[in-house]
Amino acid sequence: MKNKILNILLNSDAYVSGEKISKTLGISRNSIWKHINKLKNEGYVIDSVPNKGYKLTKRADVIEPSLISPNRDFIKEVIYFDEIDSTNNAAKKATVECNTLFIADCQTSGRGRTGREWASAKGCGIWMSIVTLPKISIEKIMQITLVTGIAVCETVNRMFGLDSQIKWPNDIVVDGKKLCGILTEAVMEEQTVTKIINGIGINVNAEKFPENISDTATSLYLITGNKSVRTDIVNGILDSFEKYYTMLIDKENMAEIIEKYKSLCVNIGKRVVSVGKNKKTEGTAIDISPAGELIIEKDDGTTVSVNAGEVSVRGIYGYI
Ligand code: BTN
Repeated sequence: MKNKILNILLNSDAYVSGEKISKTLGISRNSIWKHINKLKNEGYVIDSVPNKGYKLTKRADVIEPSLISPNRDFIKEVIYFDEIDSTNNAAKKATVECNTLFIADCQTSGRGRTGREWASAKGCGIWMSIVTLPKISIEKIMQITLVTGIAVCETVNRMFGLDSQIKWPNDIVVDGKKLCGILTEAVMEEQTVTKIINGIGINVNAEKFPENISDTATSLYLITGNKSVRTDIVNGILDSFEKYYTMLIDKENMAEIIEKYKSLCVNIGKRVVSVGKNKKTEGTAIDISPAGELIIEKDDGTTVSVNAGEVSVRGIYGYI
């Protein structure tokens, strides 16, 4: 009921009378007042004026699971945790029957690529995993990773007027610092992927970072100077993810996805070094293959395609 009242207030710019809420939801004025107080305790700022009603003047700095994906078909279920080890772990363990979102306010063991730790403090970011169940071959996992990067990059640029770019394969960077990381994991049966977990970590309201990453990490707060409502960003990403995911899985239109990815990719045309287990390749990043690999032209004119599962790529002078 509390969330229904919140929804009514969110959808109105003017005061909404207690009488109107009471008629719409079939509850007493006293019950409305109790729910309004609960919302105020959560941090929502609500003006109450006698004879006028209630008006929401400030959203609380909380993730609002009931407001995630409310009018969309794509995500069928949202599973929210105040605290969890890792949303990717939770998603891996759970049996899901349809597209599901796992999202947490805090992760105690957030994981990054290549076994690194992912700092996921309470209230500071979006820590979420979109689980889809495509019956695709193993080679397509990389393509889904690209789609996720495009969705995040496009959304933050549109919502915040930024010029963020993607550092291959899928770090979202602004002015050379990392704003978001993506960890895509898959569950396989023989050679078929039965579950894909797109783990997305976005630094939203973080004011500072642990010392070991403070030179390379950034947040939307540090970039814009404002705290942002995480639920709205999540909805923006889900919209964009659905668009590109459908393009990939239903329409198999990888050409358009690659073009879009290349237009956002910070590495193309730049000197890079790819570091694998036993091999280092230095050269200029010149293209992205249809499978999502980075194509590097070495100084002797030959080219190599590198796969995100095998290497990490750096600019030769630093992170980008
Ligand atoms: C990276 O850049 O190394 C990837 C970071 C991915 C972090 C996200 S946060 C949500 C999900 N749960 C995790 O444990 N990791 C991913």
